[in-house]
Order: sequence, then C-alpha cells, then structure tokens
Amino acid sequence: MNSLVPVIAERFSKHFPGKPLLVVSPGRVNLIGEHTDYNEGFVLPGATDKVVVFAVAHRADGLCHFVSRDFDQEYRCELGQFHRSPLHWPDYLQGVLDQFLKAGQRLGGISCVFGGDIPIGAGMSSSAAIEGGLAFALNSLFGLKLDSLDLVKLAQKAENEFVGVRCGIMDQFINIFGQAKTVLKIDCRSLEFEHVPFEREDLRVVVSDTLVRRELASSEYNVRRGQCEAGVQALRAHDPSIRSLRDVTLDLLRDHRSEVDPVVYRRCEYVVRENIRVAEGCAALLRNDFAVFGGLMNMSHAGLRDDYEVSSVELNALVDAARRVPGVLGSRMMGAGFGGCTISLVEAGAVPEFETRVSRDYEAETGRAPKIHVVRIEAGTHAVDLG
Ligand code: GLA
Repeated sequence: MNSLVPVIAERFSKHFPGKPLLVVSPGRVNLIGEHTDYNEGFVLPGATDKVVVFAVAHRADGLCHFVSRDFDQEYRCELGQFHRSPLHWPDYLQGVLDQFLKAGQRLGGISCVFGGDIPIGAGMSSSAAIEGGLAFALNSLFGLKLDSLDLVKLAQKAENEFVGVRCGIMDQFINIFGQAKTVLKIDCRSLEFEHVPFEREDLRVVVSDTLVRRELASSEYNVRRGQCEAGVQALRAHDPSIRSLRDVTLDLLRDHRSEVDPVVYRRCEYVVRENIRVAEGCAALLRNDFAVFGGLMNMSHAGLRDDYEVSSVELNALVDAARRVPGVLGSRMMGAGFGGCTISLVEAGAVPEFETRVSRDYEAETGRAPKIHVVRIEAGTHAVDLG
C-alpha cells in the first residue's frame, strides 16, 4: 500500500471524528499521443505510483470542509455555495461537487483531508488526480452507483467549467481506468480503450521536472485548440464529413495546404502525424520493440517543439541532455507543455548516470537543478483499507 495512506489517515484523525473512506488517486505519464485527445485522436497514458490520497467522511451540517496537507491550508464552503478561491486548489474540489449537483446527484456535507507526492503543475496531472479521487470518493460515500466513465466525464467537466481549462479527456480517463503494468491506448472519440502491456524489468520510465511552471489555464493551450478547430473548419469546406483532425489524413491535408493558414497547417500536421505515431508505438510495444518505441518518442518531441510549438528552452534542454546519455531509448516533453516535465525511457542500469548527467547538463544550461523521478505504472483510483 502507498506509504502516504497512513499519513493522510492520521492527519484526518487530528481534524475530524470517525473513520474516513481512504482513496488513492494516481498522477499519470503519457508515453505518446500529446495534444491529440481534444482532437478526438489517440493517447497512450499510464497511471503512476505518484498519487494523491484522500480521507473523506460524511458530516451532518451540510458543510464541505477540506484540509490540504501539502499546502497546510483549509477551505470551507456550504454545499452548493461554491466560489472560486484565491487558494486555487479548492476549485478542483468545488468543481467536482458542483458537477455532481448539476447532474442531479444527492450529496451531503463532507470532511476531507488530502495530500500526495505528485509534483504540482508539472504535467503529471495532479489536478485530474484531485478531481478523479474526489469523484470516486463521493460516488462510494453516497452510494451513487455512477459508473467509471460517468466519473471520468464529471471530473473532466469540473476542470472545463469550474477551473476554466478546456482540457481533453486523457488525464481523468487514465486516473480512473489505469491498471498496473499496462498503458492504455484510448480512442478519445469512441472512448474505447485497449490495455497495452508495458513491463520490462530492464527499463525504467523517468520523469524529469524542469521546475518551470506555466498555468495551463493561461491561454496557449486554448489557443492550440482554437487553431486545430480552424484547421477543421477550413478542411470541412471540402469534405463536410470531417468533424475533427481525427478524420484528416496527411494526403488530404497536403492537398489543401494553400487554403490553410501556415501556422494552422503546422499544428494540424503535427496532430495527424502524432496519431499515426500512437498506432505505430502500440504495434512496437506489442512486439516488444522498445527501441522503435523510443524513436517515436523522439519524433513526437520534435513535432511538439517545431510544429506544435509547445515546448520550451528548459524542456528542450532536458530532452537533449537525456538523449546524450547511453541507454536512453527515447525522450520527449510530456503533457500540455511550456514547462513541467519530460518523459524518458531508460535502461535500468543507465538510471544513475542519467540522474548525474542530466542534472549537470541542465544546470549548466539553465542555472537550476531539475527534479528526477523514476516512476512505476500502477493502478487507477481505488479505495484502500488500513484494517
Ligand atoms: C493536458 C490536458 C490533456 C491533454 C494534454 C496534452 O494534460 O489536460 O487533456 O490535452 O495536456 O496532450
């Protein structure tokens, strides 16, 4: 069991009476398929052993009382009286409660302590872990009988509507549906998914944090969405059956190049190619060809850097440093971009050298040390019992 569970349970007992429901909610990595989810394309994420733990219990007075262990802050609100908070973190929780009420679900007040070890704002989806974890807890605590997909959609809507980020469905989906030792190939249109085995004793998934933070809500993410939509609009003039970039082939895009704004064209080409890379990557994993998979990760990074333009000096520095280390199969920026983390696939024996050399090179180039995490692929959100 995750070692944070007793810590959060203990903290709960300092604030509140009774025995809480304990829920473990993971962060995620995404192996490949970046900025494809909101284009109804394909992604390949896995849930991690970096988690947020919740301790949640009913209360009779209709109040929602939250304690963040990590920020050492508290927030109280009346059920249904939700307001955006300058503390920011309560918005992810209020957003979930708000969606449950809007969906007509009957809730009561709750006492909630939560905390974890997912680096915050780093592109490992600490926000989806908060949303998914609370959604799961509410469903169980109030006996609501929502299914897993309902929880995913409620959690995503919380982020879209209350927090105000037009994120796709990947993060909330993997948070709920993740399984140990497998990554999920998710079709973000049909929401069908496939478990792809991802386990090699001799390889490690390494997440390197630039420690540069850029709020997702702060514009560029939504700008990219708009550019993809503009591309779809232009192409739809030729084929009304096109609903998203998912329906666009490279040939079709090239045929209409002159009619699409050049920047929009590059955004679209990246997305179409990235979807192809997800398919090729899954095929490579199924035949245990991690070398080919690593090469696809490298190509994904090049596209994100040059065509989608969501990378940054710091992310590029980390990726370049990683690729200079022997035993690194592939490395790319991960998540929305501009700051946050890279993901690298590294031979187990090469991890110590990776840590030393990537830290040294990154510091030489940017003046600060990165934070490096070796992560395991673990289960999605689940309840645990301390016994
Ligand atoms: C963020 C969003 C996801 C996805 C990625 C980019 O993590 O929350 O929905 O769009 O960026 O792949």
